[in-house]
Amino acid sequence: MKFAIFLLSLLTVPLFAASPDITFGQQAMVTSRSSHASKVGHDILKAGGNAVDAAVATAFALAVTYPSAGNIGGGGFAVIRLPGGEVITLDHRETAPASAHRDMYLDANGQVIKGLSTASHKAAGVPGSVDGLLVLLERYGSMSRQQVMQPAIDLATRGFALSYDLAQQMGRRLKSMAKYPASMAKFSDNGKPFKAGDIWRQADLARSLQLISDQGRDGFYKGRTAELIVREMQRSKGDITAKDLAGYQSVWRPAVRGDYRGYEIYGMGPPSSGGTLVIQILNMLEDFDLAAMGFGSASAVHLMVEAERRAYADRAEHLGDPDFYAVPLKMLLNKKYAQSRMSDYDPATASLSKDIGAGAPWPPESPETTHLSVFKGGMMVALTTTLNSGYGSKIVVPGTGILLNNEMNDFSIKENVPNLYNVIGRKANAIRGGKRMLSSMAPTLVLRAGKPFLIVGSPGGSGIITTTLQVIVNMIDHGMSVDEAVSLSRFHHQWQPDSIYYEKHGLSPDTRLILEKMGHIGFRELDYGLFLFGDANAIHIQGETVIGIKDPRNEGAALGY
Ligand code: GLY
Repeated sequence: MKFAIFLLSLLTVPLFAASPDITFGQQAMVTSRSSHASKVGHDILKAGGNAVDAAVATAFALAVTYPSAGNIGGGGFAVIRLPGGEVITLDHRETAPASAHRDMYLDANGQVIKGLSTASHKAAGVPGSVDGLLVLLERYGSMSRQQVMQPAIDLATRGFALSYDLAQQMGRRLKSMAKYPASMAKFSDNGKPFKAGDIWRQADLARSLQLISDQGRDGFYKGRTAELIVREMQRSKGDITAKDLAGYQSVWRPAVRGDYRGYEIYGMGPPSSGGTLVIQILNMLEDFDLAAMGFGSASAVHLMVEAERRAYADRAEHLGDPDFYAVPLKMLLNKKYAQSRMSDYDPATASLSKDIGAGAPWPPESPETTHLSVFKGGMMVALTTTLNSGYGSKIVVPGTGILLNNEMNDFSIKENVPNLYNVIGRKANAIRGGKRMLSSMAPTLVLRAGKPFLIVGSPGGSGIITTTLQVIVNMIDHGMSVDEAVSLSRFHHQWQPDSIYYEKHGLSPDTRLILEKMGHIGFRELDYGLFLFGDANAIHIQGETVIGIKDPRNEGAALGY
């Protein structure tokens, strides 16, 4: 190993790939869903940038090279550990336009109007990504805006060869983009699907990025880009106004913190449910010997499912934007509360979600979002960003190359009616003008004795939380390497519907039989790679070695040195 590391130090990117997805380094690492974007982050690190510089550069590049979720028209969350040890978070989640109100997606009979919160101009929240990335850079970066943004501008201007995966993804969306000429112009080759290997250039997006690079946040929230967004809203009954855009502000918030078997867990607090639920579920698991039960055993799956069931029920009841709703965060993060929530846990028998709330069907839509991790010099960055579903609302604002998000669907559109991910919300997450919609994004940092251990997060809608959780449990309880912890099959339960979702081969037939005998219901085997099971691009810091993994479920790259 030492010899391998010595050899690594003589080489440049990527230093050493034990598999296509895992990379070893000694100083710095970036991992993301796009190899182009990871290369941008890596080059920034190599050029002397810190982890925030690289994260911001990678995120802007993802807006160009991974348009399904990378964005400047969406929002996200970042959890950052500074080299001195302080952990902070930046909430750059979208906000509801000022005119938004509780019943805006309901008809005169109080019924949900199909598609209005997912596939219309009204689905878009006020974008937060640009403000967030610039605020991050200004506060903790060391490079100029121009330095970190130029690679993204170059990728958009000069273009890049489409991978098979990206060409396929874009082709699949053309049907839902057909009625939006600017979307078709951007994502098709004169109406026909692009092919792998085609060079994809995005002149309009390059111009939008250049305006941000030149003018900072005013290059997006005011001036040409803002005017084009507002014009498009006015033309198509959208709600975002010039005032909404000019008034957008990201928010520094304290990280939520937990302790799990001697490790410190830092996550994103409300308006994301991600960090709170990861910590709450870990608190519920801590009194049990998961290691002795063994990875994938019926008893381990049962325990985790029962903890998840209870935590997701709490999510529906208690979580929302803390600026609008008194989230009982202290209670939810409290270990005694976790114990009381598990007081009716029976190691031999499943509980039923219907005893806690009402059921609902599983929606056919696949969720999207994307996560990147960066490490350098003790600085850790976990950043998750999204347009909500893949390619957001599918609407490109003419002249800008910018996709509108459909994040409004993450609000509780109607009390007890499930959203895209079938998660249910109540008053805590009701729509109000200026409010942030509840998220599941869970950018997470794990430390041990104050020292960096793991950077992790994932896409996957409601499955973001259970994906992130399983990587942590796999490493801490089951003693796995980070590549095993990320790669092995995952499962998921979210209270409603009362179903155990699992990746193909995720539950062996005899494990499933034991779980059925315990009383578990609603088993759903999903094809490998479905986004519900995430894309957990993680970095493990093991002494002097930095190990990056690109989740093998999807393409992208971990690059380091
Ligand atoms: N739109 C997915 C999430 O925020 O959780």
